[in-house]
Amino acid sequence: MSSARGTANHVELYPGDTNEPVVTASLAGAGQDVAREAKLDVPPQESLAPTKLKIEGLSKAYGDFQALHPLDLDIREGELLTLLGPSGSGKTTLLQLIAGLVKPSTGKLLMDDIDQTALPANQRDVGVVFQNYALFPHLTVSENVAFPLRMRGEPRAQTLERVKEVLEMVGMGHLGDRFPDALSGGQQQRVALARCMIYRPSLILMDESLSALDRKLRETMQMEIRRLHRETGATIVFVTHDQEEALALSDRICLMNGGRIEQVGRPEEIYEHPESVFAANFIGVSNLFAGKTTDRGVMETVFGSLPLPESIAGGIEGTLVVRPEHIALNGDDRYLEGEVVERVYAGAETRLLIQVAPELVVTARQAAGASMLEIGSRVGLGWAAENARFLTR
Ligand SMILES: Nc1ncnc2c1ncn2[C@@H]1O[C@H](COP(=O)(O)OP(=O)(O)OP(=O)(O)O)[C@@H](O)[C@H]1O
Ligand SMILES: [Mg+2]
Repeated sequence: MSSARGTANHVELYPGDTNEPVVTASLAGAGQDVAREAKLDVPPQESLAPTKLKIEGLSKAYGDFQALHPLDLDIREGELLTLLGPSGSGKTTLLQLIAGLVKPSTGKLLMDDIDQTALPANQRDVGVVFQNYALFPHLTVSENVAFPLRMRGEPRAQTLERVKEVLEMVGMGHLGDRFPDALSGGQQQRVALARCMIYRPSLILMDESLSALDRKLRETMQMEIRRLHRETGATIVFVTHDQEEALALSDRICLMNGGRIEQVGRPEEIYEHPESVFAANFIGVSNLFAGKTTDRGVMETVFGSLPLPESIAGGIEGTLVVRPEHIALNGDDRYLEGEVVERVYAGAETRLLIQVAPELVVTARQAAGASMLEIGSRVGLGWAAENARFLTR
């Protein structure tokens, strides 16, 4: 698993190239193995892997503004963790702290059990790819990729060999002589990854590095990053504000909100067991019903009483979350009634929007082939009580 794990022990910071250290990562050629690479076949091994990066009470204030509140996070060896959250939630700040590009206000950071807090960026075994992957315009693809090794005075023959190898890995072997301005965005992205991979850091940080790509290319690159991740055994921290990307890529997601960690877990854990309304809303589509529990084991809402998923004491205010796929239409249990106001066809399923009250639209799903409910039809809504989640924050 760790065949390409490096002996390298520093971040490359390019002179005159602000915030653009390099990462080591190896991308395999596009295409054929994509299906095999789907993340579902990755065994959950997080309990076995040792901690790669331990973050303790790390925070960052800019003047009076707390960009990141003190937080703890363990990132495991070989895991692909995404930092997911809305704009301004502190994702880049956390990445910069890990890379050593920004000094923390409090807390510490251990990598392989060694305190790195005071270690300068260029002495950390960390590679970074930022959103603007700033290739050197006056250097060819090969020269760009060779740059980190040239800076370190590696022998020329070895460098050429390694450049060839990493360019093959990212499916760019035939474009080594091109200049960056003659490449598409996706190709530039691959070069940036190759340039980062070439010196094999054991921790790779990627900040929104696919966000400039179109959907198709982005999906291909996601698969390639997963493969790279597996082939090199590197630990990857990947920043995105796109929940679909996070779901597709991650072993675990660290959901961020307002400079704090909202929830950390495997994608399906967060999807199925959101711990807050924010998490329920940010990942996937949620139907939310606000109300108060009663002594009778139900929740009173302005739309009527709804069953609770478990026994909860009376008098607690909270929100019931029901995912669209759990909403049964005209089934045995009917807690709400509404009118179909919109049907959105999405291939394997059709999404139905059902107006229950002026301020409440419920989203449900109908599988392809089910007899379709027309716009304007009245429909009863229910769900198995245990499929809902009761949240108090
Ligand atoms: N150098 C700085 N000085 C002052 N405030 C800063 C600085 N860098 C970041 N911030 C603030 O810290 C907060 C977190 O910023 P950060 O860049 O980490 O967010 P982000 O989650 O990466 O957002 P985005 O998705 O937009 O990239 C923001 O409110 C930002 O304005
Ligand atoms: Mg950012």
